[in-house]
Amino acid sequence: MQAFGLDIAIVRTRAGAVYAVEGKCPHRGGPLADGLIGGTTLICPLHAWKFDLETGQALFGECGIKTYPVRVDDKGHVLLTIDKP
Ligand code: FES
Repeated sequence: MQAFGLDIAIVRTRAGAVYAVEGKCPHRGGPLADGLIGGTTLICPLHAWKFDLETGQALFGECGIKTYPVRVDDKGHVLLTIDKP
């Protein structure tokens, strides 16, 4: 999704947890919304870099992706908090 000029990937794990993270991979801009999810790990669809959905930290290397606070209300609406750019 695009919000305030930001590309954000919203993902739901099999356990039902919802996360919002930067939508483009820091490696070569892979579309993280199309990535695979295993537990709380997001795998980039282009070259398989892996990121922790809780922290945004890459599982290998020192780069990471931005995470955004997100919750789902009782009506199923996804509520995302984005700091003013
Ligand atoms: S673009 Fe994501 S791992 Fe290369």
